[in-house]
Amino acid sequence: MTEQVISVEDEYRQRTPHSAEAFQRGRPVTAGPAKGAYFFQPYPLTMAKARGCMLEDVDGHRYVDFANHHSTQILGHNHPKVMEAVRAQLDQGIALGAPTGIETDMAAEMCGRVATLDRVRFVNSGTEATLHALRLARGFSRKSRIAKFEGGYHGSHDAVEVSVFPPLDRAGPMEAPHSVPGAGGMSPHAAGEVLVLPYNDEAAVARLIEEHARDLACVMFDPKAGMLPVRPEFARAVREITRKHGLLLIFDEIVGFRAGRGGLQAEFGIDPDLTCFGKIVGGGFPVGAFGGRADLMDLLDPSRGPTGFAQSGSFSANPMTMAAGLATLRELTPSAFDHLNGLADRLTAGLNDLFARRGVQAQAIHTGSVFSIYFVEGKLETYRDLARADRAMSHQVFLALLKEGYFLSHTLSMCALSLPMEVRHIKGLVAAMERALDRVLG
Ligand SMILES: Cc1ncc(COP(=O)(O)O)c(C=O)c1O
Repeated sequence: MTEQVISVEDEYRQRTPHSAEAFQRGRPVTAGPAKGAYFFQPYPLTMAKARGCMLEDVDGHRYVDFANHHSTQILGHNHPKVMEAVRAQLDQGIALGAPTGIETDMAAEMCGRVATLDRVRFVNSGTEATLHALRLARGFSRKSRIAKFEGGYHGSHDAVEVSVFPPLDRAGPMEAPHSVPGAGGMSPHAAGEVLVLPYNDEAAVARLIEEHARDLACVMFDPKAGMLPVRPEFARAVREITRKHGLLLIFDEIVGFRAGRGGLQAEFGIDPDLTCFGKIVGGGFPVGAFGGRADLMDLLDPSRGPTGFAQSGSFSANPMTMAAGLATLRELTPSAFDHLNGLADRLTAGLNDLFARRGVQAQAIHTGSVFSIYFVEGKLETYRDLARADRAMSHQVFLALLKEGYFLSHTLSMCALSLPMEVRHIKGLVAAMERALDRVLG
């Protein structure tokens, strides 16, 4: 009798009945998944617990976690130092309605690490961080338009949710991209407020900014860390062009801060006026932060008298997040970064060797300890190069890797390593990828 070959998706369904049930239970009350980013077809896994670099789902399957909660869990799960700090803070109180001093320690730690941070304010998400940084830039410059890069993501608010994933048939010319709103219900004025720039094209950026500088408050720069190889010389050129035209540069380190102690800006050799942070800075708790030049940040300081600016938030700088974040940063020593970044080098080299050996049109890239795998040939320089990648293939491989015991970001983009990982986890993922390719390509 011939064995019936079932699809990768059917196999996923067979192995995960409790996840299916959990999704069906939540669907009517949470509008499908509890948040958009959790969803993949046919339904997301529901996880039961995590420890170190391992996750366990509600059907009892264990996975090496190469997603790390959208890259946030740089120390892995339940790191003893983070648990200790969180428990100590729990004992002192969760939300005290007043500063407790731990936010000062956290701010001092960040300003000590990042050369361009004179002052920093904490909020609850990267979205909030970019919102406040932008507001500061607009208020300071008294201009309202902003420039951002095609494919750059800065969270979910109207000012920046423009040309994040524009369909290629609406994206316009490569060297002067159209401004395409990214979500239903956005203000009809949002797209018009944004000048869209192409990545890795100094000449186009110089020309577009020169043409529009009079109306621009700032350039928002997502370096797409681990997702697109943005050249350091290009980043330096953007800094020079903004300086030449007197525009503020806001650098989004929300993912890039994984690269090293001083952030990706130190690796690139740039000095932005304002920087946004998030993800790892909260030690697993909701967080965002923005900061930079003293003269800009002091506009938010009510102790200096009325400035016309304001920033607050019920849970901004809350002590639980500050405790977890501070404990996390203190573990991120130069040798911790060397370990993480060295493993990422090894992983992408191993995957690229495998793709070459098997003749698969795919490439793995990384920045620091964030990596992405794209099923696409040729150069990766702009959003449009990424948009050509075979997403159906990524999805099949993602599901096949689950069967192998590896949990990656379901798009295989913005995956991340964690400190407890060792060479065996890297070799394990490369070997699992080979089996996943065998399964998917037949
Ligand atoms: C580069 C970048 N900026 C901003 C954000 C938004 O952060 P949050 O999801 O915390 O609002 C993200 C989230 O993935 C991001 O990757």
